[in-house]
Parts: sequence; C-alpha cells; structure tokens
Amino acid sequence: MTKTPEQFRSHRWFGDQGLRTFGHRSRMRQMGYDPQDWEGRPIIGIINTWSDINPCHAHFRNRAEFVKKGILQSGGFPLELPALSLAEQFVKPSAMMYRNLLAMEVEELIRSHPIDGVILMGGCDKTTPGLLMGAISMDVPAIYLPAGPMLRGNWHGKTLGSGSDSWKYWDELRAGTITRADWEGVERGIARSYGHCMTMGTASTMTAIADALGMTLPGASSIPAPDSNHKAMSKAAGRRIVEMVPEDLKPSNILRPPSFRNAIAVAMAMGCSTNAIIHLIAIARRAGVPITLDDFDAASRKVPVMANVRPSGDQYLMEDFYYAGGLPALMKQIAPYLDLEMISVTGRPLAEDIRQAEVFNDDVIRPLEKPIYQEGALAVLRGNLAPDGCVIKPSACSAAFQDHKGPALVFDTYEELKEHIDDENLEVTKDTVLVLRNSGPVGGPGMPEWGMLPIPKKLLREGVRDMLRLSDARMSGTSYGACVLHISPEAHVGGPLALLKTGDLVHMNIPERSINMLVSAEELERRRANWVPKTRPFGRGFGRMYAEHVSQAHQGCDFDFLETSAGDPVPEPKI
Ligand code: FES
Ligand code: MG
Repeated sequence: MTKTPEQFRSHRWFGDQGLRTFGHRSRMRQMGYDPQDWEGRPIIGIINTWSDINPCHAHFRNRAEFVKKGILQSGGFPLELPALSLAEQFVKPSAMMYRNLLAMEVEELIRSHPIDGVILMGGCDKTTPGLLMGAISMDVPAIYLPAGPMLRGNWHGKTLGSGSDSWKYWDELRAGTITRADWEGVERGIARSYGHCMTMGTASTMTAIADALGMTLPGASSIPAPDSNHKAMSKAAGRRIVEMVPEDLKPSNILRPPSFRNAIAVAMAMGCSTNAIIHLIAIARRAGVPITLDDFDAASRKVPVMANVRPSGDQYLMEDFYYAGGLPALMKQIAPYLDLEMISVTGRPLAEDIRQAEVFNDDVIRPLEKPIYQEGALAVLRGNLAPDGCVIKPSACSAAFQDHKGPALVFDTYEELKEHIDDENLEVTKDTVLVLRNSGPVGGPGMPEWGMLPIPKKLLREGVRDMLRLSDARMSGTSYGACVLHISPEAHVGGPLALLKTGDLVHMNIPERSINMLVSAEELERRRANWVPKTRPFGRGFGRMYAEHVSQAHQGCDFDFLETSAGDPVPEPKI
C-alpha cells in the first residue's frame, strides 16, 4: 500500500467538514447514498461509451453493472459516467475527427470529478485510443475494458467478416456475379451480435494493442462480446481497479518505452490495421514516448504475421482467435520479440501474465516457423510524393504491386471520384495509379476511410480486383488492396501530393520503401508557384478548432495543445 484513503483524490471532495464538502455529501445523500458508501473507499469512475447508436457497444449499458459488482465486491464505490460514443459506422464525416474530442472529454471527466481510478469502456475503432489518451494524460489508475469482438457473420453457410466481406460482395454485385437478394442476405447476416468488428480491423488491432501495453486484464481483448467470460472479465476488472488505487499503479508506471515496442510487435503479428500506426503514435506521445513510423517499419521487417485472421489471413475471425488461445497465446509465440519484464494492470510482469497461455489451433495462431507472412504487416514508404512518409499493407495487396510504375489518374475530391470512377469513357487501365487527395487530417477533414478507392466498373468486368491507389486518407482496417495511405504532409496543407497531375508517372517500390512521382524538381517548383490552397472545411466550432490544432498523420493527429507535455501541467481543480 502506498496510498491511504486520506490521500485519495476523492478525499478532497468528501473528506473534511467544510461548507463545500457539506454540499458534496448532502448531494450524494440526495441520490440515496450515505457516508458508508464512500468513506475510506476508492471512488471508481466507469467511463462508458455506450449509446443507442453504437452497435459495437450495445451491451455496455448492462455490462457496466458487472463492472460495478466487481468494484463493490472489492470495497470500492462505482460511479458511471457517459462519454462520447463514436460509433464508427454512423459518425460523419469520420469518427477520427472526434477521437481527440473523446480524449479531451475523458481527461476532463476524470480531472473535474472525485475519481480515484477509472475503468474505460470502449472498443469501436476510435474509442480505444481516445479513452487511453485522455487517461494517460490524467494519469490516475486505469483499466481499459475492451468491448470484445462480435460473433462471426453467417450467410448461406458461408462465414462473413465485418467490412472485408461488404467490400468483397459489393464488388461482386457491381460486377453482376451476385443478385440484389444475395446482397440483402449478406446485409442480414454480416453483423449478428453486439461487439466490435470481428475481422482484424482497427477495433481488434487497437484492443489487442491496449492489451499488449498492459492496460487491460491479460487476454481481455480477445473475448467475444457475447461470451459469458466477458461478463466475468468485466467483474474482475472492477475488482482489480479498486486494488490499484491504494497501490497507486498508474499508466505512467505501466507504459514504458519497451511497452510500446511490445505493442508494435503484437500489432505486426496480428496483421494490424494501418490505423494502428496513427493511434499508437498518438498514445505513445501522450505517455512521453516518441515512437515514429520507422519503429513500425523496423518491427514489420522482423516480426512475421502470425494471426490467421482476415483480411491478412484467409479464413478465420476473432472468435476463432479466442478459441485458439487468444492474445496471451499469440504473445507467447512471439515472446522472442517482446520485453516480458513490462508490467500490466495486474502489477505483474508480462512473463507471468502469459505463462499459462497455450495455442489450441496452430492454423489460427501460427508458430514462428509457419507464419502467414514472413515479413510484416506494414511498410513505410518515402519519396518526393511523401517526404514525411506514408504506409501500405503489403500483406493485404497482390504480389504484383511490390514494384509498380504507372500513370496517375488524380481526383481532387471524394465527390469527384464518386462522380467519375464508373464512367465508361474513363481513361484507365489496370496499370493506372488511382489518386485521391484533399482527404487528409485537415483536408478530409478527419482523414476519412476513403483510401481503398473503388476499382472502376469497367475494369471490374474485365476481372481486375486490385490496383495501386494513393491517398492522404486512411483505410478501414478491414479493407485490403494495394492502397498507399496517410501520405504526409497531406495535399490540403501543401504536401507534394497537391502537385501531382493526371498522366504523371508514379513509381512505388515496396522492397526499397520508396514512392515517387517521376517529375523533375524544376517542374514541381513551377507547379508549386501556381498552387492555390483550398478553403478550410469548417469556419467555426469544433471543426475549426480541429483544423487549427491537428497534427499530420506521421505525428499521430493529436491536437498540439493536448499533448501531455504541452504548456504547464494542469493543476488539480480547486474544490
Ligand atoms: Fe465499431 Fe467496426 S464499426 S468496430
Ligand atoms: Mg473500422
């Protein structure tokens, strides 16, 4: 024990007998509590991202009750606080635009309330980084409680995966190989239970990262949302957070530079979503650990893809991954790449957390000698098109695109792309490089997931299913194809992507990690002199604040003023 109840944050709200504390105490009694409920007990905030329009978190309203049971069992006092829900499918223009708003909300929720420790309930893509970023800056004891993946999809006896199979069958529908009725069957069968996307999308990647960082109970991220073990885990998290308050075990004690290297290695072994790069950089910077794109590239050259989960894998989904042993089993397989001395919220080193783990199906969680891809999930490319870097997921694109040269076909906006891409007269071949710009952090705004540009209909009919595509946008973790993403700096702020013209030759070489437009420096100078910046997408409100403060993709897209090190530390509130 390093903290006594008199040293808890909440003691300042309830401890002495002054006029202010009288107000707090009488108002607690107004809700039917009495001093026995809180005196001497850690007060635990349950930050819940449940909402009526977030299918991934639909179970959270009730699941929070299990957390509360655990907290009460351990002698804590639970207080549930709602936070921005950020349902990936519904929030426009992009949930990414609001990740930082959630992070800010979490930080301020904790700061402004009598809270000694927190359970962070999230799972849908942006909620994991948003919740973690806020809690890290506040640095009170915290456990991340992942929503868990939904069950496998099912249609006509076929397994369906979130996202991946929507794109796949959408292309088949456009190519005329399935009917409208088939398509409706897919619509009914692809999302059958609450829980986050069950492919290796951003949600499964980010919750695994939270787990690998030590911020969840060990293995929590792999448990499917409807599995009764998820309820038990929720209770256990409630019990554990109460112990962490007197232990004073904070994110800053858990998140060391090797923890982030562990998380990167796990992300690679999972065949991670490209979005993981942006979020993990943002999370690390909050923790004062300056990781860069190069750390991902280096890890991807070492750590093979081991999880046979779609879209990098060919067959399985997160439910299978759980039955095969889940994340602790995967971590045991890649132990040579991990620092097992790092601790988790259990207070124990990883080595102990994963000691009991076992692989039950080595086709799902592969042994090191038999990976899905020997070389990694991600490659970071640089060149005159992306001086600050961009990323591609070689494991999800056709081998033909390892080294590709072709003429660019440039779309200035997403609307323009949608209007013309299926044009029968479009001058395009399978070698054309499709380009979308002004879809980055500021230009999008919010870097929408437009990066998997659609294949033109006329090429689909010819049987083309992959093309080289470039953008300053992001791509859903469940997408696939030869898509170069996160081009930095983005076109909207004058990155060289803004200077590319239709017909210019583009050359990408993945083994050499290069991406260039074959245009002379003099010509680019001329184009720059004539470049006219676009007007900003938002004149007021949050959108304006966002555009003025968001950093570029390679820096994690956090707000400059939200970085934990920005300015002077914010003091505890005056009571
Ligand atoms: Fe929520 Fe995919 S939509 S995780
Ligand atoms: Mg997604």
